[in-house]
Amino acid sequence: MNSSAEIVLPNALGASSNNKFFVKLRPVFLTLLSLLALLLIDNPLSAQNSLRELAAPKKVYIGNLISNEHLDDPENFRNGLADPHLRQEYNAVVLENYMKMSFVLPADEPADIHNLTVEQLRATLTADKIEAFLSNDDWADLRKRGHAMIWFNQAPDWLKLVAPTWTGQQVFDFTRKYILALGQICGDRVDEWDVINEAISDDAPDGQRIWRRGTWYRRANDGSMTDWGEATYENYIKMIFVWAREAQPQARLHINDYGIETFNNSVASKNRFMRDKAKALKDCGAPIDGVGFQSHLILSDMVSSTGVLNTDFIASIEESIQDLASAGLEVAITELDIRVCNNDRDEAFQEVAFQAYCEMAFSQPNCHEVLIWGLRDEDNWITLRDDQFFAGCEDAAIVEGDNYTPKPAYDGVASAIMALPDQEEFGFSPLVPGNGAPANCGGEASLDPAILFVNGPTAVSAGDQVTVAVNYIATDNQDIVVWFQLNEAPFTVYTQVVTDVSSGAGTIDVTVDIPMNVPTGTFQYRYLAFIAPDGQGVDNSFSDFIQFQVTVLGEDSQLIISSLGPASVSPGDTAEINVSYSAIEGQEIVVWFQLDQSPFTTYQEFRQTAMPGQNDIIAKLYIPQDVPIADDAYQYQTILVPTGGGWPERIANISQGDIDVVVVSSVAQGGANNLNFRVYPNPTAGLFNVEIPASSDAAELTLYSALGEVVHQQLTPSGRSELSLHLHSIPPGIYWLSVQQGTSQGVVKLLKQ
Ligand code: XIL
Repeated sequence: MNSSAEIVLPNALGASSNNKFFVKLRPVFLTLLSLLALLLIDNPLSAQNSLRELAAPKKVYIGNLISNEHLDDPENFRNGLADPHLRQEYNAVVLENYMKMSFVLPADEPADIHNLTVEQLRATLTADKIEAFLSNDDWADLRKRGHAMIWFNQAPDWLKLVAPTWTGQQVFDFTRKYILALGQICGDRVDEWDVINEAISDDAPDGQRIWRRGTWYRRANDGSMTDWGEATYENYIKMIFVWAREAQPQARLHINDYGIETFNNSVASKNRFMRDKAKALKDCGAPIDGVGFQSHLILSDMVSSTGVLNTDFIASIEESIQDLASAGLEVAITELDIRVCNNDRDEAFQEVAFQAYCEMAFSQPNCHEVLIWGLRDEDNWITLRDDQFFAGCEDAAIVEGDNYTPKPAYDGVASAIMALPDQEEFGFSPLVPGNGAPANCGGEASLDPAILFVNGPTAVSAGDQVTVAVNYIATDNQDIVVWFQLNEAPFTVYTQVVTDVSSGAGTIDVTVDIPMNVPTGTFQYRYLAFIAPDGQGVDNSFSDFIQFQVTVLGEDSQLIISSLGPASVSPGDTAEINVSYSAIEGQEIVVWFQLDQSPFTTYQEFRQTAMPGQNDIIAKLYIPQDVPIADDAYQYQTILVPTGGGWPERIANISQGDIDVVVVSSVAQGGANNLNFRVYPNPTAGLFNVEIPASSDAAELTLYSALGEVVHQQLTPSGRSELSLHLHSIPPGIYWLSVQQGTSQGVVKLLKQ
């Protein structure tokens, strides 16, 4: 890959560019050294060409990530520059997103989720991205990090919603099956894993750091007995490692987190908590090999305004790594970036920071790897994040800029690697076996009383009786209190219903009367539920949960109450959208089937005169044959407008919630299906034979996935009527093969087993 000396040499030079003399004279030396390098092909200088080459004799891993766009099209991503660059510079790699639950689990909760076998759960998972990552020959010699098995974030919404309502046993079971299913997909092709990511809370209530509350915590910590021991969070995490070892026996297993790097002995600190818990887990028999330090760092913590290194900062992280070494735990630097905030440091000082950090890390006998989180500043997650989270720090966090030009930061990494002694072997210690026993790792278990969700109609009329569902966890005989109240000051409570419940989890339906005297129109209301000690009313409420935006309909209410249609359609389908609205005279209902982002192309429109008052209708939308096949790209947008008016005067609109419309490819692309060709599988040779009518026209074969993505394309030379379709590299599944020959076209469905 590394063919151009001009591209490569600045790096080698820069690696020694601590010397300002070299920096100034770089252009002159460049030409000179280019010539030299060409002459001395096997000279050590050319061996210093890339980070990867520098790392080879030192036996360390210097890695980077593969973004979604990169994985989807390695050959063309960033004009085809990113992938060769990745392979030239790095010897380790991680998928930035595609191994996370939000990409692997299905978009909707699988039916009967608690009764699935591992194989059945596996069948619901999306494996093709992981497969593309692990089976790409070009990346065969890169060390692979799996990121991440269990994480509260980047998980599907349905999971975040339902997991807190499961029992401890169900949380343990699901986690186990997910990990084993993931293991079946990955086989022995992953070298190391972030087994659990970001499990430590950012809070330290009462001066004591805690595990992160949320998705799994509540029920994985409910103190019940499970098949895997008592449901405490420590036991849960131990078992996560036990299952991870079972699923991935070849891989090194890490607990990964941010903000844990600098040494701190206070029990309030994340660092102390991480060290204590990693050691305790290992002592309790968890097969944990080490800790991942994400290392999303800030330059001003590392160098002064004049560029002098803060050696205490580096020494403090060294102390953390050494402390873990004393317990037989390793450290990997897993997501390194060092951001510049508010221009308070010269970007060039990143060189000092990257160099010191990498050299310190690589010099520890229990640390062999640094992964940088992004190939170029422009593609780094900090630059791309479009909320206020990294305000002021967006521009420069990693080692290369546009066109993969190395920045001083790159030189820092190179210098760090060059400073290391040569080594015979990578210094990994043997995998920690753990004891695999059902968990018994102590830790506190407590189940807090909670309201998990409240659900009721979003539009009501005065005098209605409505049903509000409340899902709760009670730890004693307690009261569930539901209020129907104003959602703004003075928060008048119009209805209160108190229901007695006994200890345990459940869902109750509460009947709420909407009084006749509720003002309509102007105010928004809400349902609010909380759980309180038995008979003690509101003063000791434990937790509340609110459903906002309940509208009380009056005679002149003008709004779309709900609009719901199928989440998956094919071209040629007629989609039925259930619309509920409240309107006045002279209005009409409009429903668009459109792209859910700019340019919001509208492919189909439904219009109907609205009846005054509250009504339910079914809007039928024909999905055109030529709508581009796409995943998650469409929405139904429903609006109420004055008759004869258009969208600028719309009164209320609602797009179908979070449900994206998947347009699935259909058999007949473009409607025509007049080419009679035959396909028959040839399992012995692992291919399909295709017979096409003899013709002077060349035939174009296009293979579509069930989602309509083109996965393979092939052209027959004209005059040929028989050919083989090799599908080795394509994952099993259902595909559509479309053959276009002149003006004739045909499509067949194929099953690749
Ligand atoms: C980030 C990715 O870089 C982004 O593309 C994505 O939108 C959000 O997640 N800690 C982690 C990583 O463990 O998975 C996160 O990656 C960055 C913080």
